[in-house]
Amino acid sequence: MKVYAIVLAAGKGTRMKSEKPKVVHEVLYKPMINHVVDELRAMGVDETIVVVGHGAEQVEAIVDGVTFVYQNEQLGTGHAVLQAKDKLADQEGMTLVLNGDAPLIRKETLQGIIDYHQQNHNQATVMSADCDTSTHYGRIVKVDGQVKGIVEFKDLLDTQMNITEMNTGEYCFDNQSLFNALSKITNNNAQNEYYLTDVIGIMNDEGLKVDAYKINDFNEVGGINDRVALAEATQILRDRINKEHLLNGVNIVDPANTYIGRDVIIGTDTTIEPGCIIKGKTVIGNHCHIGPYCEFTNMEIKDDVIIKFSVLSDSIIENGVDIGPYARLRTNCHIMEHAHLGNFVEMKKAVFGKGSKASHLTYVGDAEVGEDVNFGCGTITSNYDGKNKSLTKIEDNVFIGCNTNLIAPVTVRKNAYIAAGSTITKEVEEDAMAIARARQENKKGYSKILKEIREKEYERRNKKK
Ligand code: UD1
Ligand code: CA
Repeated sequence: MKVYAIVLAAGKGTRMKSEKPKVVHEVLYKPMINHVVDELRAMGVDETIVVVGHGAEQVEAIVDGVTFVYQNEQLGTGHAVLQAKDKLADQEGMTLVLNGDAPLIRKETLQGIIDYHQQNHNQATVMSADCDTSTHYGRIVKVDGQVKGIVEFKDLLDTQMNITEMNTGEYCFDNQSLFNALSKITNNNAQNEYYLTDVIGIMNDEGLKVDAYKINDFNEVGGINDRVALAEATQILRDRINKEHLLNGVNIVDPANTYIGRDVIIGTDTTIEPGCIIKGKTVIGNHCHIGPYCEFTNMEIKDDVIIKFSVLSDSIIENGVDIGPYARLRTNCHIMEHAHLGNFVEMKKAVFGKGSKASHLTYVGDAEVGEDVNFGCGTITSNYDGKNKSLTKIEDNVFIGCNTNLIAPVTVRKNAYIAAGSTITKEVEEDAMAIARARQENKKGYSKILKEIREKEYERRNKKK
């Protein structure tokens, strides 16, 4: 049977006090809406429809692989789901309806509600959880254990105030029954909104089978309405993810002070020291030692790599590389086996060959560096002339003396040697030594004369005063 999903993401999120729509705010470095959509994708739903409205273009810019429908006026959650009518009303199958502001939902739980819905031959299944009476969520009204409907907090009758089963805002419906019931909802309630929650009561009245699927972990479904909840969600997700890594054999020294994104993969016997933020699609291999204090975004790091105090993004690091402290890879770098990048080394768009070293104070941009090349302290590739970026090519076994400027485009051939302090503007051929700096001249006894000149000048100036 086909499974569709509708994600509600048209609301403004007034309580966030933000210029951005609520679902674009990040939980553990990933926008809320992407958490929900990625889980649906991982679960393998056939089609996901995202209802957008407030700040639609900002949501569309960060989500792909879904169909967008527009809710131009935010008249309530039921009205939001109705915007998917043209796309779904005639389809046979099941539809999950999820809140875009509940990013911690897991695919296992979504599969759980689908299985429960099917096994019990329900037309509607609402996901519920225990709450205390002070929370402002909608409540599940049951009579003799049978779900009769959902009442919003603001519409609760005095006799319903003690209900402690809340509506998570996540549901599984028989698709056609959903759209039938939706055509009957009104906005006759405390908020004058078209509530999605009303379809549960309507379906029950029509004799269709409605039921609740209760989950244990309230944290997975609590909707985020303000920045306090947003910060809490990051902590909850951080703890959940770190626990999974710990159980999988990753050594996280201080889990409360380590932030690993939901899509990150880490191999066994890798140690993560405190203060690391590892995000995006980063993959780290086995036996690595990461941190303290690193920030990685979309990195591919192989095995036995050591990295300390460094900011690295969108690059590949091969086995046995040793980086830091205080290195930076900006983007598109490929660091080959057993290379070493030391303190204050920055690279961008560079291939850095096997066993090569840049141990201190170096910039390598737009470069292809061969194997066993040694960069002396303070060497830079001068890749930008104010208008164009040009390539520096350095072949195997080149030795570059300290404080060398390589003015690109330029090539240094195999086994060449560059004297310290050189500014290299043309090709250095194989096995050559290049020296490109002013020749040194020593003026005999001139140090004394200089001193005398300086003394006299000092006296002259002081007399004037
Ligand atoms: C909703 C439920 C409530 C449940 C709670 C769980 C209704 C009427 N109430 O309340 O029972 O306990 O979720 O978190 O459904 N949205 C739109 N268009 C609209 C209105 C809302 O797209 O016109 C979207 C929002 O962007 C948000 C989601 O729907 O992602 C939920 O809306 P929100 O206003 O936060 O609903 P709650 O009041 O929290
Ligand atoms: Ca909400």
